[in-house]
Amino acid sequence: MNVAEVRSRYLEFFKKRGHAIIPSAPIVPENDSTTLFTSSGMQPLVPYLMGQEHPAGTRLADSQMSFRAEDIEEVGDNRHTTFFEMLGNWSLGDYFKEEQLPWFFEFLTDAEHGLGLAAERLFVTTFAGDEESGMAADTEAVALWQKLFAEKGIEAKFVSLGTEEEGGKRGMQGGRIFAYGAKKNWWSRAGTPSKMPAGEIGGPDSEVFYDFGLPHDPRFGAECHPNCDCGRFVEIGNSVFMQFIKDADGSFKELPKKNVDFGGGLERLAAATRGNPDVFLIDAFDAARAVLETRSGKKYGDDSASTVSFRIILDHMRAASFMLASGIVPGNSEQGYVLRRLVRRSIREADKLGIKDAVLAEVADGYGAAYAEQYPFVKENHDFIRDELAKEESQFRKTLSNGMRELEKMGENIDAFVLFTTYGFPIELTEEIAKERGVSIDLVSVREKMKKHQEESRAGAAQKFAGGLADHQAATIKYHTAHHLLLKALQNVLGKEVHQRGSNITAERLRIDFNYGAKMTDEQKAAVEKIVNEKIAEALPVTRTEMALEEAEKLGAEHEFGAKYPERVSVYSVGPKGASKEDPKFAEAFSIEFCGGPHVANTSELGEGGKHFKIQKEEASSAGVRRIKAVLA
Ligand code: ALA
Repeated sequence: MNVAEVRSRYLEFFKKRGHAIIPSAPIVPENDSTTLFTSSGMQPLVPYLMGQEHPAGTRLADSQMSFRAEDIEEVGDNRHTTFFEMLGNWSLGDYFKEEQLPWFFEFLTDAEHGLGLAAERLFVTTFAGDEESGMAADTEAVALWQKLFAEKGIEAKFVSLGTEEEGGKRGMQGGRIFAYGAKKNWWSRAGTPSKMPAGEIGGPDSEVFYDFGLPHDPRFGAECHPNCDCGRFVEIGNSVFMQFIKDADGSFKELPKKNVDFGGGLERLAAATRGNPDVFLIDAFDAARAVLETRSGKKYGDDSASTVSFRIILDHMRAASFMLASGIVPGNSEQGYVLRRLVRRSIREADKLGIKDAVLAEVADGYGAAYAEQYPFVKENHDFIRDELAKEESQFRKTLSNGMRELEKMGENIDAFVLFTTYGFPIELTEEIAKERGVSIDLVSVREKMKKHQEESRAGAAQKFAGGLADHQAATIKYHTAHHLLLKALQNVLGKEVHQRGSNITAERLRIDFNYGAKMTDEQKAAVEKIVNEKIAEALPVTRTEMALEEAEKLGAEHEFGAKYPERVSVYSVGPKGASKEDPKFAEAFSIEFCGGPHVANTSELGEGGKHFKIQKEEASSAGVRRIKAVLA
């Protein structure tokens, strides 16, 4: 099956089972300063998994664009990609294990409405329990799986392996259902129960693996088992029974409602339907792969070194296309830096394939076409993507050839710091080359010298996340509300045509991009600040209402240019005094916006501790778009 077929069968299957199909959230989280990219389907849904009502109901399904920066260096084998689509289905306090596992199994095995995979090829894992946190083994999941396999005439033996190491020693033992500990079968964004910060949610999970029937590769352990990395088994879906929240005292509390968070990699599911574990052979990569074959004169799969190069470029350019189409530009920090790294790594691999002239824009075109139907914004931003890639490629090709020449001269004594400061040769690239050649470089001293740059390059999603979700939350929520006040104030001062073109909120500040053709005067800025501070002083209630998309549009609720919304939306209104959920008094509200929240209950919270709203910076963001950074201080 091709990717579109798998995606549409999946969504249709869950729609038939009462799920509302919701659009993919953007790849850069809008209201979450804790992470650079949306890295799973559950991430945009965290507030709802924590108990907030979702406007589309309690059963949701989607295909979410996801990016995992931490996997950049894993790319090169047959199954890892940084960008992928995660198929998701959610129960927000609705159904639980008893429905989820049979549905997913049916979807995988049913030939007419699902994927028609052979049940014999499926192996599953469950949670073995965790002594450290006192979490019990998931025996319910084991029983459910046994029943499901029995219905297919398969006697499913249960084997508890506990850890990957144990799995590598003891192997399959004729098992079909396996249990592993918290490292493998517990899911939270931070990892195992003990790694979860206070306020984070998680739960035991059950994964399904597809057996591609390849011989075991003993480099990965004496024996093979589902979580072995040799490539025989590929994980194709994960049902998380999201039911715990970690308390400030470190204990685990049941969430108000038990949820299901299912995530399955679309590309891997498509690969399973083809019976070939190589995700780079699915149709989404066809056009881009053909460009690389033509330009390099090499065939994908002919030899292992060039296959790795092909895969890195194919993956990175797909991710880069989606990022650029989402408005990220190559830069030296945060998302822009990750994008730059993807582009530079691709150029180096293209060079290794013998492609000496610019090629990336052409590769990226292949993705605009491949995703034209599901993600038309990629194709629509075609010119921008081409231009940015062409610019970056022409600059970096020079750096690469100068840097490589110097690096070759250095022989065994590669000096990453000199390469960087003299030739602009990225440290990570030197590291990668040194690793490939088995040469060691004195990274400690380089790191010391490079501390500042390193800080930026290491702003990986995982580390940022560990920074303390809970502490950030209160401050971030205030900035969300300040953001609504600011947008309305801008419209009052600059004109009704002003709309949001982008936003980014951290616990330290808010940032808004909006369309306006000129630099704001000091008077205009002062007028905007005055309005926002007045609204804070007026102590206005902030009210959330759910309604049909159409109704919200009729109210003139502010929404972001180009964004797609589901049929039912959540709307936040600020003021007037006396407004409430029962009686939102929209006609007199100061601001009404489409928004998933969360927000403060009353604008007075923004002024707590004597704080005032202040515009720190007003500058051009791109043609016709201005950017404001503002704080509560
Ligand atoms: N949230 C789960 C995952 O990303 C489904 O694997």
